[in-house]
Amino acid sequence: MCGIVGYIGDRDAFPILIKGLHRLEYRGYDSAGVGLIHADKTLSIYKAKGKVSALEQSVENKDTTGTIGIAHTRWATHGEPNETNAHPHFSQSGNLALVHNGIIENYKNIRETLQKYGRVFRSETDTEVLVQLIEYVQETQKCDLFAATQQALKTVIGAYAIAILDKNNPDQIIAARKASPLVIGVNKTENGRTEYFIGSDASPIIEYTNQIIYLQDEEIAVMNRKGKLKITNLDNVKQTPQQQTLQMSLDELEKGGYPHFMLKEIFEQPDAIRTCIRGRLDIVDQDVLLSGILDHKEKFLNARRIIICACGTSWHASLIGKYFIEEAAQIPVEVEYASEFRYRNPVIFPDDVVIAVSQSGETADTLAAIQLAKSKGAFLYGICNVIGSSIARATDSGTYLHVGPEIGVASTKAFTGQVITLSLLGLAIAREKKSLSDEMFHMLVNELQVIPDKMQWTLEHNKDLASFAQMFTYAKNFIYLGRGYNYPVALEGALKLKEISYIHAEGYPAAEMKHGPIALIDEEMPVVVIAPKRGMYEKIVSNIQEIKSRKGRIIAIVTEGDTIVKELADKCFVIPDTRDCFVPLLAVIPMQLLSYHIAIAKGRNVDQPRNLAKSVTVE
Ligand code: F6R
Repeated sequence: MCGIVGYIGDRDAFPILIKGLHRLEYRGYDSAGVGLIHADKTLSIYKAKGKVSALEQSVENKDTTGTIGIAHTRWATHGEPNETNAHPHFSQSGNLALVHNGIIENYKNIRETLQKYGRVFRSETDTEVLVQLIEYVQETQKCDLFAATQQALKTVIGAYAIAILDKNNPDQIIAARKASPLVIGVNKTENGRTEYFIGSDASPIIEYTNQIIYLQDEEIAVMNRKGKLKITNLDNVKQTPQQQTLQMSLDELEKGGYPHFMLKEIFEQPDAIRTCIRGRLDIVDQDVLLSGILDHKEKFLNARRIIICACGTSWHASLIGKYFIEEAAQIPVEVEYASEFRYRNPVIFPDDVVIAVSQSGETADTLAAIQLAKSKGAFLYGICNVIGSSIARATDSGTYLHVGPEIGVASTKAFTGQVITLSLLGLAIAREKKSLSDEMFHMLVNELQVIPDKMQWTLEHNKDLASFAQMFTYAKNFIYLGRGYNYPVALEGALKLKEISYIHAEGYPAAEMKHGPIALIDEEMPVVVIAPKRGMYEKIVSNIQEIKSRKGRIIAIVTEGDTIVKELADKCFVIPDTRDCFVPLLAVIPMQLLSYHIAIAKGRNVDQPRNLAKSVTVE
């Protein structure tokens, strides 16, 4: 993972770099570092273990002046999270400093070879290999840094987004990428000069400019103080930068008065879903307009099968999508963990449609899974939130969630956005295939239209969970149960609790309890059951009774007006009635809030839980 920031221009670089690192902390926060070239052309590197705030404290009395710099926030892969392994890394001579996001897979071989030539390594990282190699090439081939970087990167296997400072060329930054994202921001200042920003995504840049260039795989860029930008591929063939205007405001990135991004994002869901649906539901003509589908209708109509590849929360949303697409469009759907799919030589037919579902659009396993599917001739469709992300660009077609940036590490509004988008996709195919009656289609479309209001209602009726959550700080385990469409919601509820409170939790299909897990139930065990007054209501009531008679503590999610489950449960959260297929969109909200409040009661850092990062760009 890791986050990269860079700046070259007339402003003081340090505050820009630090602010940028804070915005990228979702990508990792094991250590942070910054490299600056001062006015006297000296190069300083400052690093600290831990978060960006630790770096800020550590440089309090140091020289942080300079108008060119690079910075890094780390999610450790090679070498423990300490100051030595923090980026930037120096080359042997100390002339070059480099930050890196990604993994160099052949780093051991390169390191051993360079050691034979007398290079001494200070850290355990794969990154240091890069900077040492670049300098080695520069010295032995007597070429400039740009050419040396091109040559060095050709020998590297793996993923990288890098930025390099050179003490001997104090007026330039070099950047390059392969399989890890890198964005360049371009700004014309009032005095007509051009300044450049670098970011792992646009969040460190958007405050200064909305003019963005997404560096492509195996492209290398050099930006200098005179405002010049050159981009080539690794064979030195000049590339024409595609500058775009980014539609994202800084406000969207701030907490907006909430104590945490996660809580803000939970409460944003009604609006986020309104935006996600906007323009896609044609209520007058009763149609679904999903651009990526309309353009490739035949692919979907003739699909032998749909395979959805995803990870984590996106996998849970995909499972709900499977249930809906199979029910509405009558196409078989398989949902695959991308990390398993990519390594097991799966059968993929040219008439399969493979859908990648990913909030970040950068998840390494999901990206690799679709690359595998592409090599076997499948049509690729991407459902991503981050605009211009790697998965969005690697697919043949696709659609964005449009739920706005998700900063909290625990995914919330992206989950509901994914469920909605997959539902829209199912409806769009069903409309074309005529696999749903007009009456059912209209009913579903009309219901989808009011889901944001029902989400709002759910939030208003369940917001005060703080004192209730206190009662569960003792718990070491939780069980989550659901049936049908709500089984994936049980999985998602359990994941949300695990990742931010560090309480062990398991999600099960409720009827599976009697095949083993019911042995876990005693008076200590909280069991969250999704029990809407719909489809399998009577059956889930029986499951609740089985738990109750073994003294489990039942927390139920019920439809407004329910009386039967209320009698049995220790606590009920209410949701408005909706169609079975849309219950997940409402039922997940009390679960998100419950996890949030339990985590807060336990003093956890909900926006940055331990060992996690928002974008999993390593496998
Ligand atoms: C959990 C969570 C993760 C992600 C997973 C996939 O709250 O956020 O499980 O869902 O890492 O990430 P994306 O959707 O970016 O591919």
